[in-house]
Amino acid sequence: MAEKKTLLSGIKPTGRPHIGNYFGAMRQFVEMQESYNSFYMIADYHALTSMQHPEELRASILNIAIDYLAIGLDPQKCVIFKQSDVPEHTELTWIFNCITTVSYLMRGHAYKDALAKNKDVDAGTFDYPMLMATDILLYSPDVVPVGADQKQHVEFARDTAEKFNRIYGNTFKLPEPLIHPDVGTIPGTDGQKMSKSYNNTIGLFAEKNEIEKAIMKIPTDSHGIDESKDKTSVLYVLHKLVSSPAVFQKIDHAYENGGMGYHDIKRMLVESMESFIMPFRERRGSIAADQKHVLTTLAEGGKKARAVAAPIMQGIREKIGVTLYPL
Ligand code: ADP
Ligand code: TRP
Repeated sequence: MAEKKTLLSGIKPTGRPHIGNYFGAMRQFVEMQESYNSFYMIADYHALTSMQHPEELRASILNIAIDYLAIGLDPQKCVIFKQSDVPEHTELTWIFNCITTVSYLMRGHAYKDALAKNKDVDAGTFDYPMLMATDILLYSPDVVPVGADQKQHVEFARDTAEKFNRIYGNTFKLPEPLIHPDVGTIPGTDGQKMSKSYNNTIGLFAEKNEIEKAIMKIPTDSHGIDESKDKTSVLYVLHKLVSSPAVFQKIDHAYENGGMGYHDIKRMLVESMESFIMPFRERRGSIAADQKHVLTTLAEGGKKARAVAAPIMQGIREKIGVTLYPL
């Protein structure tokens, strides 16, 4: 049997996940752990550019670990670890900094966006792509599944690998970005893209009353009960994602031919959404109740990740000429 390919992806511990994140990204992570040798890294040092309250950062790291365990990442099948548990990441970042130019980093989208907001940009944000390059290259992944917005960062990692290989000899495998297949953009409760930044989300672990509140406020047009309705509308798209085939068939029929008003369509969506979210929420509750287990999972993941990264880093130290004694 052909050997499994390796995958690495990073998750920034900021904000709470919503169903747009789930369908757009998280679901693929769970599916891919079956067929890839998978590393899922919580990018806590990356979060430091925007989160400088220790309590908040600690809570975010723990929350994101619980979230991913709750949706089905299985530590028996993949390595879940925290970036800061593998100090080789920051060590290699320095080495990459020394072979990378300022003008190259100035092309980064994230840096340009920060500049455009007229911010006095911190050096961490400027250097973000180099830390991300080390995240990737220390694990020799074949693929890096990311959203389209991260494609440039994976290209930076490839360029940096090539540059290092040119200077010091062949060392790094060039990773390929794997852009999440276009599941389409999941709309939020206001019809724009669902996003933490727009306050239009349905939380992936929302309580029933929160689900209800979010869905009941979705704006609708003035089509009456007997009229056919617009299949591009938020309610229809969300039904399609979360309703059972039997429920969705009824909804589809009503959108095609009329026969149901928006109030009923919304009520049915609340029920479907609750059935979809409840298992996640319950699993999350029991995982969160056993914090020790989550911490042990992360600690063990950290050890497994470090066992891969440390020998690679040792080889790099030798290549660049800082080790005086062969170990
Ligand atoms: P947000 O816009 O809420 O801040 P992020 O930018 O953190 O979300 O996105 C995390 C991942 O979830 C990315 O891979 C992104 O492509 C995916 N994602 C976010 N919002 C949506 C959405 N509305 N529809 C589909 N995928 C999404
Ligand atoms: N920059 C990514 C984001 O903002 C997170 C990330 C950090 C990452 N290191 C990574 C993604 C390595 C893929 C591979 O979403």
